[in-house]
Amino acid sequence: MNVNGQRYRTIWVADDGRTVEIIDQTRFPHTFETISLESLEAAAHAIRVMQVRGAPLIGATAAYGIALAMRADASDEALMMACSTLLETRPTAVNLRWALDLMRKALLPLPPEAREAVAYKLANEVCDEDIAINMSIGLHGSEIIANIARTKKPGESVNVLTHCNAGWLATVDWGTATAPIYMAHDGGIPVHVWVDETRPRNQGAFLTAWELGQHGVPHTVIVDNAGGHLMQNGEVDLVIVGTDRTTAHGDVCNKIGTYLKALAARDCGIPFYVALPSPTIDFTLSDGLRQIPIEERGGEEVSRITGRTRSGAIETIDIVADKSPVANPAFDVTPARLVTGLITERGVLEPNQQAIASAFPERISSAA
Ligand code: MRU
Repeated sequence: MNVNGQRYRTIWVADDGRTVEIIDQTRFPHTFETISLESLEAAAHAIRVMQVRGAPLIGATAAYGIALAMRADASDEALMMACSTLLETRPTAVNLRWALDLMRKALLPLPPEAREAVAYKLANEVCDEDIAINMSIGLHGSEIIANIARTKKPGESVNVLTHCNAGWLATVDWGTATAPIYMAHDGGIPVHVWVDETRPRNQGAFLTAWELGQHGVPHTVIVDNAGGHLMQNGEVDLVIVGTDRTTAHGDVCNKIGTYLKALAARDCGIPFYVALPSPTIDFTLSDGLRQIPIEERGGEEVSRITGRTRSGAIETIDIVADKSPVANPAFDVTPARLVTGLITERGVLEPNQQAIASAFPERISSAA
């Protein structure tokens, strides 16, 4: 996508053909800065501290992390160690395991001297595939928006509510939940996006609002608790969110607070869609509530907030009473029964085992 008129992906290989470049997402929205990753450790650190985040981009960074590891040492032991180091960085987004499985299975049978080149090639392919998937999600999802525009909102903006950042910053390009929005907007359909700020890390306010603004998509940032009220008052036509892991039965794990939006949407009769690239489906799981590991992040994300002061300085301040304990579960699970449809690269699916299995039969056999 465009940043101040210049075309960017969120991750790419530098001109030296080895160094991996990322956009530092901990510096948004006030600073745009890139970081060079030169080692496995740097890639693992980038995922752990959320310089890169979002399920698809975590997977892509892990793939390049393996390539960087193979550059230093391409032995079997180094490959297995790199996979386990990266797998431990964040627990919830299944794209991480998906990418590491893909890299390990392709590289282990090769002689060590062939591994580095193949690893870079595969990581590049993971990125290209992510973009193709998201464009396809965009095409299918924009039809939903176009249909609402035609049948319910002729001459008016379609109001989409989204949570967290499932935008291009969370992927290699286009985003998942945002791809339908960008395509509808580019196709001349008037769209307006309600952007949940998404406490505690504010991915909505810091990232989604920034990228929608760069693309010229009308949007409004709201506090997380405003969505229900807006839905009750007819100000939301549909909800589109992303996901970090969706089970074979259609339970959707996404950023904390997504479940509450799904409940409000159901109560108000508003369609609740999940943009779901197939690498985010975990075919080994059937019960999202019991089986998906929910990341518990540091309490300082809740008790502190970072922003720009009037003088232009970036500062972090405490916002919770010193002695109050805090908890920070980072994701929640929305049961399939609350989901209207899964917008995948192979079309919009009902959130159930049969529909998911028949759309992705090749993934069923590889998960067995
Ligand atoms: O903790 P984060 O910022 O990595 O969480 C991101 C989300 O929850 C996104 O909605 C999800 O990864 C979908 S990204 C296309």
